[in-house]
Amino acid sequence: MKTLIKNGCVVFYNKIARLDVAFSENKITQIAEYIAPEGFDNIIDAKGKYIMPGAIDAHTHMAMPFGGTISSDDYEAGSRAALAGGVTCYIDYAIQKHGDTLLEILNRRKNLAKNNSYVDYGFHLAITDFNDDIADEFKRLKDYGVSSIKCFMVYKKEKMNVDDATLAKILALGKQNDILVNVHCEDCDVIDARIEQFLKEGKTSNWYHYLSRDEEVEALGVKKALKIAKDADAPIYIVHNASKDGIKAIMKAKDEGQIVYAETCPQYLYFTNEVYQSERAALYVCSPSIKNKESRTALWEAIWANYIDVIATDHCPFKLSEKAWGDHDFTKTPNGCDGIENLYRFVISAALKNRLSLSKAVELVAHNPAKIFHLKNKGDIEVGKDADIVILNPNGEYVYHNKDTFSNEDNSIWEGVSYRGIIEQVFVHGKLAFKDRKILISKHEGQYLKR
Ligand code: URP
Ligand code: ZN
Ligand code: ZN
Repeated sequence: MKTLIKNGCVVFYNKIARLDVAFSENKITQIAEYIAPEGFDNIIDAKGKYIMPGAIDAHTHMAMPFGGTISSDDYEAGSRAALAGGVTCYIDYAIQKHGDTLLEILNRRKNLAKNNSYVDYGFHLAITDFNDDIADEFKRLKDYGVSSIKCFMVYKKEKMNVDDATLAKILALGKQNDILVNVHCEDCDVIDARIEQFLKEGKTSNWYHYLSRDEEVEALGVKKALKIAKDADAPIYIVHNASKDGIKAIMKAKDEGQIVYAETCPQYLYFTNEVYQSERAALYVCSPSIKNKESRTALWEAIWANYIDVIATDHCPFKLSEKAWGDHDFTKTPNGCDGIENLYRFVISAALKNRLSLSKAVELVAHNPAKIFHLKNKGDIEVGKDADIVILNPNGEYVYHNKDTFSNEDNSIWEGVSYRGIIEQVFVHGKLAFKDRKILISKHEGQYLKR
């Protein structure tokens, strides 16, 4: 099938230009001011529309065992929601069970995702049980197609955290083997001490989730991780930044020449900690918590000043009934929110409302994640890259309702949020995959990406 999209405005990470785009099979074959229509099976007139690369969600947790349950979107549901939102690739966190080798971590998740994903996927491996064998296996990670691993500084009770000395060792191994280390930064000892105190005092509402992991707690973790990475002379990628002091510390480190990548998420750019005083508080319980207005402003300023590299979702939804487990004890509320369906819609809408440019949106959710995480055929409208393409109508507006979701969720933090811009068509591997709110490909389409 040879497709030609005519008369659209192509959004690159550094410019927008009126160009025709042609693709055949899985690859973009030509981009030019004028491409003659002869020889194409399918010609689309995109006058007044934007042609954009499919987005990459660099941070997801599909079917993740966590908080006493499993996150409610499996690969099938999460990737279907991704596709409907113009996300044509995601990198999921495969989390080590104690005793697993790195290959076992990877293979377990590959088996779950295989033939169950509408769009392409890769994995970051999260190490929770580091030992000499794992250290030795680092040199094989690239052969497995894995170029990034993750460490949690938190979730001590869940036995998911690594201590500072282990983080230092892993960062050093990352540097030696050209593997980027992603870190969830919060100070777990302060969190645990605060939780103990709150529960003793009978302070059990979800507001105390926020107070147990507030601005200070996150900034402490970020500063510590930056120092450990600096001492190891290793690059570091700090996931889901939510706090002003944390992002300021990253900005300073970047200014001083340290190699640091910063990610934030739509929930930290849109909501504030007031959500934890609402009736729906449980839905917003995620870690790090959503911070105050000052932090939200600081994150936007960091985007405008080019200090944020990636916006990703940390997609990790749970059912309403599970969210209610914490009604009388916030520590029992499963941590995580939905996001993948609304990632591209959120940044596109923000761009169309002049919060950032469309090119910047593409840079943050497509170009940069592809570059940082070695997805060499993704992230840009460019000859030779995969034909994962979104056609955006900038004129429509709508209000998101979870009843219309493509995922498995029965709730959404994005319920009632209004968006500008309609993702009208999505191509995956050059095939029309989503149009008129209908999914047109099968769940076998997505492939594991070695990166
Ligand atoms: O609350 C969250 N973010 N849940 C998923 C696990 C993590 O920390 O990324
Ligand atoms: Zn995390
Ligand atoms: Zn996460």
